[in-house]
Amino acid sequence: MASKSYYPTMVVIYLLAMVLMIINPTTLFIIFTVVVLIMFQIVWFVYYQNSLKEETNQSLRELEYKLNKTMRYRDETRQQFTSLAEVLGSGLIRIDENERVREINTYAKDTFDLSDAIDQPYDVLKRHKTLYNLIHEAYLTERETRGQIVYNDRFFDINSAPIFESNLYHGCLVLIHDITQIKNAETFQKQFTADVTHELKTPLSALKGISEILLRDQDMPLEKRQEFDKIVFNQSERLETILNDLLIISKMDRLDYELNIKQLNIKQLLEDVIDLLRTQAEDKGLVVEATIADDTIYVDPLKMEQVLLNLVKNAINYTDQGQITIKGYIDKKEYVIEVLDTGIGIKKSDQEKVFKRFYRVDDARSRASGGSGLGLSIIKNVIRKHHGTIDLQSTFGEGSRFIIRIPRVQEIR
Ligand SMILES: Nc1ncnc2c1ncn2[C@@H]1O[C@H](COP(=O)(O)OP(=O)(O)OP(=O)(O)O)[C@@H](O)[C@H]1O
Ligand SMILES: [Mg+2]
Repeated sequence: MASKSYYPTMVVIYLLAMVLMIINPTTLFIIFTVVVLIMFQIVWFVYYQNSLKEETNQSLRELEYKLNKTMRYRDETRQQFTSLAEVLGSGLIRIDENERVREINTYAKDTFDLSDAIDQPYDVLKRHKTLYNLIHEAYLTERETRGQIVYNDRFFDINSAPIFESNLYHGCLVLIHDITQIKNAETFQKQFTADVTHELKTPLSALKGISEILLRDQDMPLEKRQEFDKIVFNQSERLETILNDLLIISKMDRLDYELNIKQLNIKQLLEDVIDLLRTQAEDKGLVVEATIADDTIYVDPLKMEQVLLNLVKNAINYTDQGQITIKGYIDKKEYVIEVLDTGIGIKKSDQEKVFKRFYRVDDARSRASGGSGLGLSIIKNVIRKHHGTIDLQSTFGEGSRFIIRIPRVQEIR
């Protein structure tokens, strides 16, 4: 480098000139040496200046390169951050140290209608009071803050974390998770537990009451005692039914619940179910008719039997006179089963609800038949697990038609 060798070189040249002048101290030689020295000094100085300039330019270029590299890296990181924020599936807002919204992903914009928020002071969030309050608190306290808000009937978990760089506060990062499903599941679970308790309480109270009477009244006439015994038996059976149904439901709710798919002759199964329940129907004076197409389908035979037993039992239970018709036919890739009755029918407003757990249109009637209100919800679940559908058409006072469509071959999904 010129700058490094400049001064030592100059010293060497001046020393050399002085030695030469001492060896040959003539006026002409001294003048000549001084002129040469001055010219050399000028030439060397110009050269030195140029190299210095070149060195500075080189450093500048290196600095520029490093700066570009850092900016590129920053842009890439920002790009990655933005992409990450977009695929996050949750809302993300970043507020900088100047109280401005510096980052807001599409999810947050769409959910809270904040498409105009970018680069605005975070006061823009004030249109959502609860969200603003949480973020405002987090911003002011410079601490991690967590809370839940409700907006448009949805529940959100808001988590705000401060950003520090070299111990300096640089705003905060807000993450917004939609927890509506979790909340709903929580509510559903609570409701379910309350329903189960209620359902178990009824037969248990009956059993307790009757045993109290039986204990108290030892001299009760045999006829009356037999009446009570019958109630005890019925209520115990009812308890057993509820517990069995609950067991089925809890099994189906498990994530690792799997069907045991086998090749099944559906005509045979339908006929077996009808044979099993025919007497029960005929005892009520009901006519049972069946037209069933022969086919082999791939289903879980035990579950399918449960579905058909439940459906036909319902038809018998909720029909006082007339006919039960069972149809089975192939419709392209599906096998369709229809169970029709000329019973009490279901009002339009109840038609969706009957598939819900514990829902009974007429509590007294269902209880009398020993029903727990879980049958249709189990059926619906089993059919869904088979990737099929169940539909209901019904006219109140005239009858009902339940239609099940099952893929004849279960595709692996
Ligand atoms: N074929 C039908 N005709 C009229 N109402 C029906 C029919 N099937 C079901 N329902 C109504 O739907 C309700 C829910 O039926 P579901 O089978 O789930 O329960 P359940 O029959 O009361 O009891 P279980 O759990 O023992 O089957 C019944 O209580 C009844 O009110
Ligand atoms: Mg039922």
